[in-house]
Amino acid sequence: MCGIFGIVKEKEENLGEILISAAERLTYRGYDSVGMATISGDKIDLRKDEGKVDTVAEKYNIAEMSGQRGITQLRWATFGVPSQINAQPHLDSNGLMVGAHNGNVVNNIELREQFIAEGLTVRSENDGESCVHAVERYVKRGYETIDAIRLAYGDLGGDYAFVIGQVNDDKLYAMKKGSGLVIGIGEGFTCLSSDLPSLLPLTRKIIRPQDGEIIILWADRVELRSVTDGKLIEREPETITETMDAVQKGGYPHFMLKEIHEQPQVARELHHLLDDSFELDSIVDKMRNARNLYLIACGTSYHACISGSVALAQIAGRAAIPVLAPQFISQFAPTVNHDDVGIFVSQSGETKDVLNALHAAEEKGITAFGIANVIGSTLTQATESCLPLGCGYEISVPATKTFTNQVYNFLYLAYKMAGRDLTELEQIPALMEKTLEMVAPQVEHLASTLDDVDDLYTLGYGSTFPIALEGALKLKEITYAHCEGMLSTEFKHGPLSAVTENYPIIFTSGKNDIPLIISGINEVTARGARAIVIGPDDKRLHDNSDDLIIIPDAEEQISALLAVLPLQLLSYHMSVARGYDPDFPRNLSKTLTVD
Ligand code: G6P
Repeated sequence: MCGIFGIVKEKEENLGEILISAAERLTYRGYDSVGMATISGDKIDLRKDEGKVDTVAEKYNIAEMSGQRGITQLRWATFGVPSQINAQPHLDSNGLMVGAHNGNVVNNIELREQFIAEGLTVRSENDGESCVHAVERYVKRGYETIDAIRLAYGDLGGDYAFVIGQVNDDKLYAMKKGSGLVIGIGEGFTCLSSDLPSLLPLTRKIIRPQDGEIIILWADRVELRSVTDGKLIEREPETITETMDAVQKGGYPHFMLKEIHEQPQVARELHHLLDDSFELDSIVDKMRNARNLYLIACGTSYHACISGSVALAQIAGRAAIPVLAPQFISQFAPTVNHDDVGIFVSQSGETKDVLNALHAAEEKGITAFGIANVIGSTLTQATESCLPLGCGYEISVPATKTFTNQVYNFLYLAYKMAGRDLTELEQIPALMEKTLEMVAPQVEHLASTLDDVDDLYTLGYGSTFPIALEGALKLKEITYAHCEGMLSTEFKHGPLSAVTENYPIIFTSGKNDIPLIISGINEVTARGARAIVIGPDDKRLHDNSDDLIIIPDAEEQISALLAVLPLQLLSYHMSVARGYDPDFPRNLSKTLTVD
């Protein structure tokens, strides 16, 4: 995980503000610690510490930093606790080179032992430092920097992207191996970053390096070289035309609330994107004829896969197996062959667990399709075809609009497979708007009554089972309360013992499952629980619940999708009421590029 940014100017100038802004744009990738380094002539200025960008920037007066080159890194801790010493960038032994990485160097521990044995000064436990020493060891043996980097590439196991600069030079060097890295070319400068959006305020002219490439950045040009033979690689820059509106909060106090309210609009856009897709028919055809059909993902995207599996079964009569990506490797990959189809679902398109499953499945000859939000991400390139999510930037760490569009995508596939009228789905955006309008004040009030709650359950059945799981994930991600989502019928098989007077349990009910949900409600209310129910306007639900959040009447699958909106809003308001920042919850990261 983590995020890196680097910039090369023609001559020394103030770089502090540029580095702070870039770090803020990359904060979603990690915020345990942050550091900035500038290089000019024979000097390296390195300032770093644990904490978020604004705190570290103020404490170390980052705004005043100047240099001809600059690097910043945002960390999401894997090797070494968040601390000043483990924060990146890192120096080499003699303070002549400085570098930072994102990703994971899996052989970090053995490399550190080698470096120490070779007499290099190892200061931290962090694997980013190993990247610097891996270059340094070859420079010390007399290799040119570029060759030292090529050799370091062979020594550093795992998936990462890495940037390094040295004194008495005018360039930055970078390499890409399995982690995101994009190069920007501006007027009088070049830059690089872990993702595309963070470069767009600086330049729209970009180059996308591939794995196994070394990048050399001067202020006025960029060179790509193959790591295997050092040969030059020609690649023309592309011009990005997307707007940046989406990365502003647009009047909302948090990105999460803005993104919740963007759901109707992005669903509308997705429908058009899917209508226009040339690949959809062939994907549906291959899904229909597959021996086994797997839906593979992690986190929120996995919940969308369960939802997709229910939709494909109920609407199109097609069985699909939803599975968490790492578990797919051990449970299904050994049995997979070329008659099977896998749909790999990921907002970021960079989740390492998902990419690992993709590689394991492809080795067995599976036909792999993707559903991803980030265009140009690894998943979009590594699958046979990848359907879009069309959500634009999702900044807030808890996924909202990408979840609903993943579910929408599966509904579209199920309708298409069943030969059902796709225009039925076009009512979803308006129903989402109506839902948000109907539930917002009630949910905000409900959140205020759950102030002191640190333990709760969300229960659903059938099409609302994945919605209950997703609601629980949102609640635990940003309220820090323990919340477990499960199948409502399973609650009596053990968890029921948690129920005491006023214990909150949230039920999500589809209209076909009301009798079953009511029996679940009565089992818990008979023991003193408070039953909060999200469902249609139905007398039976009114009579049996303590709080009923009514969602508009809709077809079973669509109604389940609508039920997630009050859960997203409830998590948001509970998080804010507790004084937390829902956009950047502690310990989490939006894109996990580590095992
Ligand atoms: C991380 C994020 C989750 C996300 C999961 C999968 O854990 O914190 O919000 O659901 O990764 O991400 P993906 O980009 O593959 O959908």
